Amino acid sequence: MQTILIVDDDKSIRYSLKRMLEENFSVLTAQNGEEALLHMKETSPDLIIMDIKMPGRSGIEILREMKTIDPKSLVILMTAYGTTETAIEAMKFGAFDYILKPFPIPQMKELVQKAIALRKLMKEEVTYAPEPDQRKEEEQIIGSSPKMQELYKVIGQVAPSDVTILLRGESGTGKELMARAIYHYSLRSNHPFLPVNCAAIPDTLLESELFGHEKGAFTGAISRRIGKLEQCQGGTIFLDEIGDMSLSTQAKLLRVLQEKTFERLGGKETLRVDVRFIVATNKDLEEAMTKGEFREDLYYRLNVVSIRIPPLRERKEDIPALTSYFLKKFNRELKKNVVGITPAAMEKIISYGWPGNVRQLENVLKRALLLCQGEWILDDQLLLEVEEKKEAGEARGKKTFEDLLDSLFWELTETASLREGLDMVSAIEKGLILRALQKTKGNQVQAASLLGINRSTLRSKMVRYHIKKGILVVEEE
Ligand SMILES: Nc1ncnc2c1ncn2[C@@H]1O[C@H](COP(=O)(O)OP(=O)(O)OP(=O)(O)O)[C@@H](O)[C@H]1O
Ligand SMILES: [Mg+2]
Repeated sequence: MQTILIVDDDKSIRYSLKRMLEENFSVLTAQNGEEALLHMKETSPDLIIMDIKMPGRSGIEILREMKTIDPKSLVILMTAYGTTETAIEAMKFGAFDYILKPFPIPQMKELVQKAIALRKLMKEEVTYAPEPDQRKEEEQIIGSSPKMQELYKVIGQVAPSDVTILLRGESGTGKELMARAIYHYSLRSNHPFLPVNCAAIPDTLLESELFGHEKGAFTGAISRRIGKLEQCQGGTIFLDEIGDMSLSTQAKLLRVLQEKTFERLGGKETLRVDVRFIVATNKDLEEAMTKGEFREDLYYRLNVVSIRIPPLRERKEDIPALTSYFLKKFNRELKKNVVGITPAAMEKIISYGWPGNVRQLENVLKRALLLCQGEWILDDQLLLEVEEKKEAGEARGKKTFEDLLDSLFWELTETASLREGLDMVSAIEKGLILRALQKTKGNQVQAASLLGINRSTLRSKMVRYHIKKGILVVEEE
């Protein structure tokens, strides 16, 4: 159970907040800043809710001290009418948020939920686990396939430095999980981690969220706002879905990456920041760039350390371990006692293409567990969407030639037959010619035009590969 510390000299506030929260959290209270600091050193609470105006040292001073003790501590400040300015300024010192007194209960509850969710991200370590370690409840990155091992190695190499990292991969491959792993293995793990989803927030709001704004910067900007960049000093910002960022925001981000400076919207003061960026996207940035939707200079800036997370279908050997990890996890969560899945069900899982990757596997297994009455999950309890031909084709179309070569390279390296790969080049050519001839029922003129070569080239290749007309007819029948 998470711990929340309430700091207020007003007894009735302490009491009512405690009552509101103690059902779901373990709640501590303090009457003043000094007492709060003592509690903090003893228990390091997951969230602190503190009044700004208290006798003795103010909430702001205490906040600053708390942040030196633990930069990752999450503090919500309570402010009475008239001290809002102070609360806003406190965001610079890393307060999580502030709330005006008196506050509606649902608003406070929502804020607490948000803070606790963030606390989980920052606190719960993500560890590498080739095979799931079921004793641990923390999040694990499962997988021991060569591709995953390669990934762990790269992450291990780049995490401790401050370089910007670009995570790429299809949806559901684990980009966010990797981002958190990088954070936990970085030298900034004692500082905050703030995720920002660029796709979920409309454009102007995203800029204001990141850079903050001055009062009157745009209609509706009724007071100054301190952005995530300022709030996150010394920490790590995770920009998710960066492919959806508008060009104007991209320009501002580029400047932060290059010069580490920015201005609040509508502001003149140039601010310096020290944050590390981890960004992620499932978009084809190269394509976006040719379409003029993504800045080239930003692309090159981000592409220095680019990590590709392989889709699940390229590392099917990880599926059994992932399956058992998720089964244990959902057994715990849903209070079930499923022992495992039948061989037929496993067969079905292995042969599926998993367009939604690990997230889809996770969801399918969760649903199966809910449907499961006995001890074993049966194959008909796995509700897999039919892989549509069209979709599969699209996915294949999107795969770049580089991707294909990559997977071929890894396949062959694994079977130690890279040499065979070189022979495959002619085998591929022969195979394509045969298929073209089959499709055109042996008509060489049509086959040549299908292949985009002229007829005499086709003839000479047929001679080289010993392709005779007769064979085709036999093969066809
Ligand atoms: N290797 C892994 N081991 C264990 N769990 C994983 C692994 N990869 C992904 N997951 C889980 O799968 C789910 C999806 O992962 P995540 O949100 O990181 O993917 P994503 O790439 O950010 O997806 P999207 O593009 O849809 O945002 C999460 O619940 C995550 O914990
Ligand atoms: Mg994601």
